Amino acid sequence: TASKEAEKRGWHLYLVGGAVRDLLLAETETGTLMINDIDLVVDGFHKSADVGAGVELAKALQQIYTNARLEIHGAFQTAALLWHKDPELDSLWIDIATSRTEFYPYPAANPEVEASSIRQDLYRRDFTINAMALRLTSPRAGELLDFFGGLIDLQAKQIRTLHANSFIEDPTRIYRGVRFAVRFGFAIEQRTEEYIRYAINSGVYDRTSQANTKTPALQTRLKTELKHILEAPYWQAALELLDNLGALQCIHSSLSLDGDILQELHLLKICLRKFDKQYNLQHWQLRLEVLIAHLEPKYRAKVAKNLQLGDDSIARLKTLSEMQTTVFTSLPNLQSPSQIVNLLRKYDLQTLILIAVKSPRKVRRKIWYFLTNLANIQPLLNGNDLKQLGYKPSPLYKQILDDLLSATLDGIIKDEAEAREFLA
Ligand code: CTP
Repeated sequence: TASKEAEKRGWHLYLVGGAVRDLLLAETETGTLMINDIDLVVDGFHKSADVGAGVELAKALQQIYTNARLEIHGAFQTAALLWHKDPELDSLWIDIATSRTEFYPYPAANPEVEASSIRQDLYRRDFTINAMALRLTSPRAGELLDFFGGLIDLQAKQIRTLHANSFIEDPTRIYRGVRFAVRFGFAIEQRTEEYIRYAINSGVYDRTSQANTKTPALQTRLKTELKHILEAPYWQAALELLDNLGALQCIHSSLSLDGDILQELHLLKICLRKFDKQYNLQHWQLRLEVLIAHLEPKYRAKVAKNLQLGDDSIARLKTLSEMQTTVFTSLPNLQSPSQIVNLLRKYDLQTLILIAVKSPRKVRRKIWYFLTNLANIQPLLNGNDLKQLGYKPSPLYKQILDDLLSATLDGIIKDEAEAREFLA
């Protein structure tokens, strides 16, 4: 439908970016291809300079697919159509951009003008494998436009950038390159690797690691890329490759994957496996917090702030070292379950996990024991029961319920009847 609408107006329409790459990859692989993020580029002149051809095409499509939501970004450049059948599962997102920034009429059928316009659009992209287009409009619908050797790189399984300045202009591309390399099992081409190292050595991350209000957009994109990497099944291999390239510097210049940090990430893995069903945990965020918690305490809150983590993460990382000292000194001396609960319930789950992965085995086991067996035990009676038993509501309620809980945890009372007896 989109190509028909474009053809009606004498425009060219292309499928570009990740979808083309994934379609070509799927030809050589088995399994089902799921594409729910589609990028289209329309190359056409619109009579009004205020509305790009992409926006008009998106509007025309929304008239046909009325269940799609239309979003327009920027003054006149891009539009998106969104279908949300089920917010979790079945969403489809189509971005429609306009390739020409100069708005003058041109004969749509002129292949030279067409070629230079889409070529320019593709040349601005990150890697050759992402810089191919599939023409959707006739004549020559279905033709692959591959000006920079994307198909050869796909076959050679390599990530290659289009120009030397790519990573200086956009440092998030270093993360994207690593993500694609690990995800597809590709190598980063030698020259591209040199450009990455050059960009890092020339301080491209200083722009991001200093609290710099001029680059919030860059920091947001960096956080998005980090999140993407840290929630993927291949997160560990990606971190190792980032470390190898010196790119973990974007988090902090002193960060590298030493043996201790790998051990902490390994313990986190065990922890997530143990507690994932019981608690709803954000894996990527905890991984990132473990990395940040590995830095010297004085850097942690600042780094978390730069990466625009939530206020809860920032506060946690700011006070982690004091909390850790308290737990390390007190926990080994506590034996009864009620003593353990009284100490550990002051901390949120993420804090306990961050402390546990940094703890000696004995301390860690007690934290895990708390999380698995003790944290969810409730007093056998509640405030209403106390009322019924003739206690007048007062601040003492909390104390009574706490005593009841301690007696339950320590096995002194086992059921409600014993609890009532205990109070009597
Ligand atoms: N792109 C780019 N530089 C960036 C981000 C994106 O050149 N920093 C271009 C690439 O051509 C990419 C396209 O924009 O293919 C779409 O970006 P995005 O949807 O983020 O990536 P995909 O390639 O679709 O990857 P994924 O499959 O992970 O969504």
